[in-house]
Amino acid sequence: MMILLTGGAGYIGSHVCVALLDAGLDVVAIDNLSNSNKASLERVQSICGRSLVFRHADVRDEEAIYEILRDCGVTAVIHLAGLKAVGDSNVRPMTYYENNVLGTMRLVSAMKRANVKTLVFSSSATVYGPPRYLPVDEKHPLGPTNPYGRTKCFIEEILRDIYRSDDDWRIGILRYFNPVGAHESGLVGEDPLGVPNNLLPFVAQVAIGQRDKLSIWGGDYDTPDGTGIRDFIHVVDLASGHLSALRHLTRPGVLTVNLGTGNGSSVLEVIRAFEAVSGRSIPYEIGERRAGDVAICYADPTFAREALGWRSARSLQQMCADHWRWQLKNPNGYRDTPVLKVQGRSRSLASRR
Ligand code: UD1
Repeated sequence: MMILLTGGAGYIGSHVCVALLDAGLDVVAIDNLSNSNKASLERVQSICGRSLVFRHADVRDEEAIYEILRDCGVTAVIHLAGLKAVGDSNVRPMTYYENNVLGTMRLVSAMKRANVKTLVFSSSATVYGPPRYLPVDEKHPLGPTNPYGRTKCFIEEILRDIYRSDDDWRIGILRYFNPVGAHESGLVGEDPLGVPNNLLPFVAQVAIGQRDKLSIWGGDYDTPDGTGIRDFIHVVDLASGHLSALRHLTRPGVLTVNLGTGNGSSVLEVIRAFEAVSGRSIPYEIGERRAGDVAICYADPTFAREALGWRSARSLQQMCADHWRWQLKNPNGYRDTPVLKVQGRSRSLASRR
């Protein structure tokens, strides 16, 4: 079974790739490499001892996607490609609509032409907006508060319309909570461009001495220690959720599922867990709240268990330990990996070794 993985070279993509290859599936990964490095896919291949096909392509290029679907004999698509920075989406909303919404529309058109009608889409808990109740289940009303979140909502609606118009489609919509951690090999992990927006990569860069201290955005929330609480989920667990979704899309329909642990951890709890596993101290200061942040958000993962037979397995300690191993082994992310010369778009990574 050949799976097309869009955004395959990214943080989530590289871990999903490992899960697919380890499960014996074949993968053609595409990526426009705007926020990723194809060294990640070289490393995926060494982890799995199997090769995959890489094509440097953009999901907005319908013709290129159609040719890949047709030529590679793809039977299902996992669609992760997209822009994801909340603040940036406020500054350049059209770029987000074009990449995320238009990109998905072109991908779906190409799939329709190639008669590939199984799709797993990476959505986000950000579609819920500020929680009205906790834990957040899939029936929670939607109310994203920024352009990035709205692109995810619009795409979800588009996918439901696709199914309404043609009930052959099998669509899985996965709403991620806060993915963190790295593969236990320390070979693939998160490699943020510039100053990290998210907590774990920032904490890891402080621990290794690349940044002086962490700013905690708000210490006066209505939580036990005053700092924000989130549902951090190990990226390897998140990746296995994609495999479960693929396996459970046995009938036409649209399945919308939270991927979270159901446990909330505060920013201070994360700092303490990271200090314990790394043996380093994480200096911090408590600053103003970040605009758009909520006090507490965590998932109700019940439906994921019922619908996909999936649950997260890894603890906060493991998330921090694996994130730290990745950071220690790759202080500059993938930037120290020798760059491969791409010789034509149709060659597999393995064939260039
Ligand atoms: C953010 C995005 C969300 C996205 C998710 C992906 C915002 C407002 N939301 O969620 O749309 O789906 O990432 O993982 O950007 N924190 C600090 N200092 C830091 C960084 C973070 O105190 O330097 C705190 C935040 O205030 C928050 C917690 O750590 O309480 C988690 O922050 P973050 O990792 O950015 O995730 P979210 O805000 O939940």
